[in-house]
Amino acid sequence: MTEPRPTILDLREVTAGYGDEPVVVGFSHRVPAAAITTLVGPNGAGKSTLLRAIYGLVVQVGGRIVFEDEELGDLPPAARLRRGIGFVPQGRCNFPLMTVCENLQLGTYTLARAEATRAVERVLALFPVLRARWRVLAGNLSGGEQQLLEMAMVLETAPRLLLLDEPSLGLSPANLDQVFDTIADIRRRGVTVVMVEQNVEAALAISDTAVVMDLGRKVLEGPAHAVMEDPRVRAVYLGGTAAGESR
Ligand SMILES: Nc1ncnc2c1ncn2[C@@H]1O[C@H](COP(=O)(O)OP(=O)(O)OP(=O)(O)O)[C@@H](O)[C@H]1O
Ligand SMILES: [Mg+2]
Repeated sequence: MTEPRPTILDLREVTAGYGDEPVVVGFSHRVPAAAITTLVGPNGAGKSTLLRAIYGLVVQVGGRIVFEDEELGDLPPAARLRRGIGFVPQGRCNFPLMTVCENLQLGTYTLARAEATRAVERVLALFPVLRARWRVLAGNLSGGEQQLLEMAMVLETAPRLLLLDEPSLGLSPANLDQVFDTIADIRRRGVTVVMVEQNVEAALAISDTAVVMDLGRKVLEGPAHAVMEDPRVRAVYLGGTAAGESR
């Protein structure tokens, strides 16, 4: 049932941060292709910093990041985007005073015109709700719709690896289901997803692999269902105390 997947992203002893003290320390992990890997951990653990380092937004002071067998080195984010890595940062960052249509056109600015038209059609097929909101200002969309718009704008560039930082942050339960269903759909289309989530139970329910991070280091990893049953994870994140306990 669990056939091994090839590694699409290989983090080798990655150390990264903003100043003298590194925030991420000696982080090694192999991300399997066409799967969802979820990174969980307490506030300040370095989860966002690790995602930013993969996208080239933080100074990486040590280790290697290898994407599709090529080391990314000091490539800037735009070059990583061209190589097939997409990043949706924590918090909403679309343009609230522009319509859905205008936002989606902006998302294609790196593409040639014919390719841009196809990209918009492709994401509208994946996010029909955005077609229905075509002329609505992004700022007037629901939280869930705004998150879908964020993902759509990045997916227009057809990344093979999608980095999502807390996609469910601030969403109502209904919007949250919609966003997680969409992430599962993106993965079914063969895109590899690495996401950071505080909503551990809902996120791990759609994930293949889970990684727990604390104080900049990896403290636990495994199949998502196994990590969810880990007593330490249950105690900290799920309000439980023992593996296999009934809810
Ligand atoms: N731009 C920055 N400049 C300096 N320090 C930063 C910067 N961003 C984050 N840090 C520091 O790095 C550490 C890790 O932050 P990071 O945002 O990676 O954690 P996180 O695990 O994503 O936390 P959260 O769950 O709260 O989002 C924190 O101590 C934070 O203060
Ligand atoms: Mg964060």
